[in-house]
Amino acid sequence: MTDRSVTVEAPAKVNLSLLVTGRRPDGYHLLDSLVAFAGVGDTLTASPGLGLTLSVDGPTAASLPEGENIVLKAARLLAEAAGRPADATLHLTKRLPVAAGIGGGSADAAATLTALIRLWGLDLPAERLHALALSIGADVPVCLAGRPTRMEGVGEVLTPAPALPPAWLVLVNPLMPLSTPAVFKARTAGFSEPAPLTEAPADARALAVALAARRNDLTPPAIALLPVIGEMLALIAAQPDCLLARMSGSGATCFGLFATEAAARAAAAALTACQPGWWVAPAPLLG
Ligand code: C5P
Repeated sequence: MTDRSVTVEAPAKVNLSLLVTGRRPDGYHLLDSLVAFAGVGDTLTASPGLGLTLSVDGPTAASLPEGENIVLKAARLLAEAAGRPADATLHLTKRLPVAAGIGGGSADAAATLTALIRLWGLDLPAERLHALALSIGADVPVCLAGRPTRMEGVGEVLTPAPALPPAWLVLVNPLMPLSTPAVFKARTAGFSEPAPLTEAPADARALAVALAARRNDLTPPAIALLPVIGEMLALIAAQPDCLLARMSGSGATCFGLFATEAAARAAAAALTACQPGWWVAPAPLLG
């Protein structure tokens, strides 16, 4: 690392609600999702270098798939768009489970774009950056936004969501990857009506009430593919003071919503004691 290193956090993306509202002719699904971020994630550092290299460490580094990493893909595409060589030494500390429905890869890609824009001193027009992010993955634009957002289309239509109240999440993953295309493919239900959040909830309890009126439409197909998700949701919901238990994205990560840090930490400890093999992370909801 040098003085000119740029470090960017890549927080976990959480779909507080996810409605599938339609399907495009190319097979991609239209969504209406309230996306927020949690105070746990990966960390990306970009330093000056000749050529492009990536090193990875961290508790979940070993589960990254072989082959071209999304971080390198993002770096190459950005260099290409900027018409400059992809010179950088990248380091990723991986803490989020992989293929988990909390946007680990998308968050890493967004963090890479943000870090390299700063390292390389680029001034890319916002629309160009948005299109570049979307070409890397449907969730990359919302991860670039990094704040509570209503996500529509296949991930490209972003509107700032009302401010979210102070709240805590406990993220839980069985450390079994679940393929996003497989979950979308296993859907059998019809489409939902869009249901945007229009008012800022006063507190965590009001947020839970607003979310309870919405769903994650990908939960039934995800449970059909990975039944342990049903068990996780039941166990999370059974924790004292849990206001809501829900799956994020296409799974398998589920979350519990809590009003206080103490309640979230107590639930996380109880879940870990009960299922030591699961990944359990208490984290504040980033409002
Ligand atoms: O673009 P991303 O890698 O996030 O999406 C992975 C796959 O998930 C897509 O190839 C598609 O099969 C499915 N998907 C979808 N509708 C979306 C997002 C993803 O059908 N809105």
